[in-house]
Amino acid sequence: MNIDEKEINNFDSFAHEWWNKRGPYKLIHNLTPLRLDYIQQHINIKNSNILDIGCGGGILAEELTDKGAKVTGLDASKKTIQIAKSHAKEKNHNINYLNISLEDHIKKIDHKYDAIVCFELIEHVPDQLKLIQDISSICKQGGKVFLSTINRNIVSFAFAKIMAEYILNIVPEGTHQYKKFIKPSELAKMLELASLDIDDIRGVKLNPIDYSFSFSSMTKINYFMTSTKK
Ligand SMILES: C[S@@+](CC[C@H](N)C(=O)[O-])C[C@H]1O[C@@H](n2cnc3c(N)ncnc32)[C@H](O)[C@@H]1O
Repeated sequence: MNIDEKEINNFDSFAHEWWNKRGPYKLIHNLTPLRLDYIQQHINIKNSNILDIGCGGGILAEELTDKGAKVTGLDASKKTIQIAKSHAKEKNHNINYLNISLEDHIKKIDHKYDAIVCFELIEHVPDQLKLIQDISSICKQGGKVFLSTINRNIVSFAFAKIMAEYILNIVPEGTHQYKKFIKPSELAKMLELASLDIDDIRGVKLNPIDYSFSFSSMTKINYFMTSTKK
C-alpha cells in the first residue's frame, strides 16, 4: 500500500480541525478559491466525474460539488473521512467519500474519471511515481490530472517548513518532510512517464499580511500542475 502510517496518524490527530477556518487548515481554506479558479481554467466542472485523492475534510470536494461536479473523495485517514462525511451531511452535499487506499479503489471501479485532483498529497506518500501511475490508470483519455505540492530548494525550506511550522505556527509542526518536497521538473518527469502531458505549471504566492493566495510566475515554493491523459 502506498500509505505512510505515520503521516496518517498525524492527519488523524488533526481531523477534528478541518472545518476550523482559523485552525491548522486555515491556509487550505484560504487557498481553495484559487484552486477552484485554477481548475475552472482547464475544465468545465459541471457534470464532470471528479476524484479528489487525499481529500481531507472535503473543503475542495464541497466546492466542486457546489459547481455541479459528481465528486468522489478518497482519504486514507479514517477520522478525516468521518469529519468529511458529517460536514457534507450537515450541508446537504451528495459526495461519495471513501476511506480506502487508492490501490483498492482502482480494483473496485469499472469506470475512469474525467478529472482527478491530488492537492497537497504527493509530498505525504512513500512512492510518488507509483501514485502518479495509479492516478493515470483511472483517468480517461483526454481527462485532466491536477496536482499541487511544494518545491524543494532553500527558499521552500525556509518558508514552507521553518517559517510555516516553527515560527508563524500556521501549519502544525512536523506536517512536512523536506526530502519529500518535489521540484517541478521532477514532477513533470513522473507525469511524462505515466502518459500524462503537461498543460500548465503555475506558482502560488502567499500574502504574509492576510494569508490570502494569488497566482505567481514564481514556482519556488507552492505550485500547481495540470496534465492531460494521452
Ligand atoms: C495536506 S492534506 C491535503 C488535503 C486536501 N487535498 C486539500 O488540499 O485540501 C493531505 C491529506 O491526504 C491524506 N493522505 C495522506 N496519505 C494518503 C494516502 N496515501 N492515500 C490517501 N490519502 C492520504 C491525509 O489523510 C490528508 O487528509
